[in-house]
Amino acid sequence: MPLFRSAGPHRLPRLDALVYGGDYNPEQWPEDIWAEDVALMRQAGVNLVSLGVFSWALLEPEPGVFDFGWLDRVFDLLAAGGIAVALATPTAAPPPWFARANPDSLPVTRDGRRLGAGSRQAICPSSPAFAEAAVRIAGKLAERYGHRDNLMLWHVFNEYMAPTGECYCEQSVQHFRHWLRDRYTNLDSLNEAWGTTFWGQRYGDWDEIDAPRTAPSAVNPAQRLDFARFTDAAWLECFRRERDAIRTHSPDIPVTTNFQDARCKGLNQWAWAAEVDVVSNGHYLVAEENENHIGLALAADLTRGVAAGGSWLLMEHSTSAVNWQERNIAKRPGEMARNSLAHFARGADGIMFFQWRASRFGQEKFHSAMLPHGGTDTRIWREVVELGATLAVLGEARGAQVAGDVAVVWDWESWWALELDWRPSADVRYVDQVRRWYEQLWRSHLTVDFVAPEAELGRYPLVVVPSLYLTTEAAAKNLRGYVEAGGTLVVSFFSGIVDENDAVVPGAVPGALRDLLGITIEEFLPLRAGERVTVAAVESGPGPGWSGTIWTDDLRLREAEPFAVYEDGPAAGKPAVTRNRVGAGTAWYVSTALDGPGLKALLDRIGAARPAFAGLPETVEVVRRVGAGAEYVTVINHGEHEATLPIAGVELVVGAEVPELVVPGGQVRVVRRTV
Ligand code: GLA
Repeated sequence: MPLFRSAGPHRLPRLDALVYGGDYNPEQWPEDIWAEDVALMRQAGVNLVSLGVFSWALLEPEPGVFDFGWLDRVFDLLAAGGIAVALATPTAAPPPWFARANPDSLPVTRDGRRLGAGSRQAICPSSPAFAEAAVRIAGKLAERYGHRDNLMLWHVFNEYMAPTGECYCEQSVQHFRHWLRDRYTNLDSLNEAWGTTFWGQRYGDWDEIDAPRTAPSAVNPAQRLDFARFTDAAWLECFRRERDAIRTHSPDIPVTTNFQDARCKGLNQWAWAAEVDVVSNGHYLVAEENENHIGLALAADLTRGVAAGGSWLLMEHSTSAVNWQERNIAKRPGEMARNSLAHFARGADGIMFFQWRASRFGQEKFHSAMLPHGGTDTRIWREVVELGATLAVLGEARGAQVAGDVAVVWDWESWWALELDWRPSADVRYVDQVRRWYEQLWRSHLTVDFVAPEAELGRYPLVVVPSLYLTTEAAAKNLRGYVEAGGTLVVSFFSGIVDENDAVVPGAVPGALRDLLGITIEEFLPLRAGERVTVAAVESGPGPGWSGTIWTDDLRLREAEPFAVYEDGPAAGKPAVTRNRVGAGTAWYVSTALDGPGLKALLDRIGAARPAFAGLPETVEVVRRVGAGAEYVTVINHGEHEATLPIAGVELVVGAEVPELVVPGGQVRVVRRTV
């Protein structure tokens, strides 16, 4: 599927290449620099820039008074340079006059503090004043620029819910009550769903309901879960309002908003994906982490999952260091290309950066850029130019589909519920648990497709379900159907526990998945901080085993058979890993957070999925994209030593026909093979 998939009447790609570019903030620079910008963009092979992301205060200096002159001139210069525009609505940073006139539009935190306006995203999503002003500026921009030839994409807002987006002001409370009325219709249903007989919270009037603000003790978890749903929905309403205002004047240009993959907890991206024309993402490495490219791969795979397996756009990443982590480690030579091409390998049809030219002032002046403070006589600039040339030759791979080997279930609602107060262990963090499995699949050279719990799973030989605490009936039915039809399912601990109201599924635990897994859990036995237990495979007998942390269960077998047992710890002698044959398939259960080698050994033992290329060094990443008549195999060598792979075809980065592929340490190669 090409990047610019059409929803309804939308026009498809205007750009016959992979996208390359970044956020362009010309308003931070004197006008005489703009021509140089465009010339350098051309030199680097830039073909798209994100424009105007934070320019509201300049575009509308006073309420209802607009100044588009400077943006007209930027548009003209870019058009003359053959550079397309992703035009942003600047609504993530309302002008100072707006906050002054509408102090009640500033968000209130859970503990009742109203936040100041001197940054960005200081917005209550339920503010009618914000809704009106945002629609007005979005509509004006669409009216003025919607028919420009070099307008390729609309970029609404910037990173919704970064960092949290929750608001506990009076307007939000009113809006929450409306949302609850729509969801529950009557108070009896709400009282039942929220289990308000607990701690005597029964509501007799809608106006008694508050946002789940900080209270003397833990707040009703069902209320908190609904508030998370409401907050997500409130921001989605903000997005839809701007998008629809744009479409009134500019119906042919696709609309996106930049997501933040697994870094953004608040946005249920499965739902948002249906509302955008193009899925786009911003990704930043956890720079200090060893092997931070594994987190990058996870983010890229998740974004492709959100794009339903189709192409997507990397709207932002960094050429080198960011400025907002504790220690902002710079990328080493070649790392930016490896990062960029890893996104490409995993389905990105465009690679963009924050930002084009490094800012001299403001909060982000120590953030790297395509054009660093040092100008063009810098390593970063040379690498930027080189990357532009590489992407130009890879353009033919545009739209090719990534061939996923296994599925990993991902669920935002379950994440929200899992991390509320008073769970059996604060050490169970959703992304950590997903990451554990993902990492070993990555080391096994298996490409992961992230899927929603209700997604069609039939084509996967292996489906992994990490800690799906909240499991709906529909999800449980889907997983069961997959196993019955012959699939191999692996479920990790604390899954299938509660329904969509955070109420324990009736009967023995793990309610929703009990029959499928063929077990019951008599008691959760979480571990102490740092505690390790030893797990031994039943078949190979006792001996040096794998180790587990965080969690164990007092587990009883029903139909399942034990595969591994605990040798020590609170569950000593009890099953640690089980398997249950159901229909034509098998459902595995893993009741502890196995260490990396243990998890990898278990995956090898389950053996349901095989990588396309066997025997590769662990540091070599291989991902395939399959297009019409050709397959593109990207090989990223994260190690220091040269790697040789039995892949013949036309190597595009260096440009040669190869009988086998040799990838020097730190380098990337992409081979086209005929299929
Ligand atoms: C986010 C924002 C950008 C910029 C970068 C810095 O992705 O969208 O505006 O702040 O972070 O890394």
